[in-house]
Amino acid sequence: MDELLALRESFRSEVSAVNSLADLQNLKNRYSGKKGLLTSRLKSLSSVPADQKPKFGKDLNELKEYIEGEIKGRESALREDDYRQRLLAEKIDITLPGRPAFFGRTHPINQVLSEIKAIFVSMGFGLEEGPEIELDYYNFEALNIPKDHPARDMQDTFYVSDDVVLRTHTSPVQVRVMEKRRPPLRIIVPGKVYRCDSDVTHTPMFHQVEGLMVDTDISFADLKGLLELFIHNLFGSNTPVRFRPSYFPFTEPSAEVDIGCIFCSGSGCRICKTTGWLEILGSGMVNPRVFEMAGYGPDEYSGFAFGMGVERITMLKYGIDDLRLFFENDLRFLRQF
Ligand code: DAH
Repeated sequence: MDELLALRESFRSEVSAVNSLADLQNLKNRYSGKKGLLTSRLKSLSSVPADQKPKFGKDLNELKEYIEGEIKGRESALREDDYRQRLLAEKIDITLPGRPAFFGRTHPINQVLSEIKAIFVSMGFGLEEGPEIELDYYNFEALNIPKDHPARDMQDTFYVSDDVVLRTHTSPVQVRVMEKRRPPLRIIVPGKVYRCDSDVTHTPMFHQVEGLMVDTDISFADLKGLLELFIHNLFGSNTPVRFRPSYFPFTEPSAEVDIGCIFCSGSGCRICKTTGWLEILGSGMVNPRVFEMAGYGPDEYSGFAFGMGVERITMLKYGIDDLRLFFENDLRFLRQF
């Protein structure tokens, strides 16, 4: 009996000292667990004299209920404490202004690409696409650039195999479309192109828009009128435009098109190399050789083609002086457009 009393006393002082749920679990194991103090007392029941057994059993049961009750009570008190403390620790100030979520927006390259497309679509041009992994044949041969032609040096090509390249321009789509369709044709071809070239003014991938217009009676005057209209739409109607003789294997005659330098208004600066002009696209009358390659009779049709770099046009339109900004995707840059 004294033993049970002592056990009760020691439990009482221990349980009041417990301050955490983990300690309480230990205490519980020690007293009422399988190998706990209560169980061992129960086992010693057999050694209790027969006449004291009922009382000992009853007291032991009472003690067990007392201990279990105390533990339950202590547990809920500790849980309550725990909960209150967590509420305090996790308190948030709901009066603080929220952090703004930034909406994504269209990349400047895609914005200008959309503008270019919209202008040509408004003039009756349709959109076409072609493969970025292209046959040497379409990228070069069919555009009148044979294997040993020096014009191949104009473009540093990524070769996939002897006959397959990453297209270096969007011009191969001209031939792909002409192979499938007969004039009248009025198409533009926006897309990615690749060149083995990387420095401040060149990236291995960039965007071009190709254009092609073919019919029975297209002249250089049509080419001039259309491109002038396009440039005035894109850069403003006061933008000076000039056509400068040039050379491309797939056009004859060929012209490069310049706009008056938007940085110095034509007076000459570092960016226009003091010429007052900035080149923005290449163009020309489709070379009869290209018509032949596409399966058209050489005298059947006439037409013009042009090609422009979207990065370059975007830089000129917004006065951006470093091509790399387009690819870094720094939000401070992108949010300005
Ligand atoms: N393909 C040429 C290039 O990447 C650009 C070009 C020039 C396209 C003249 C044309 C054109 O269609 O007529 O440099």
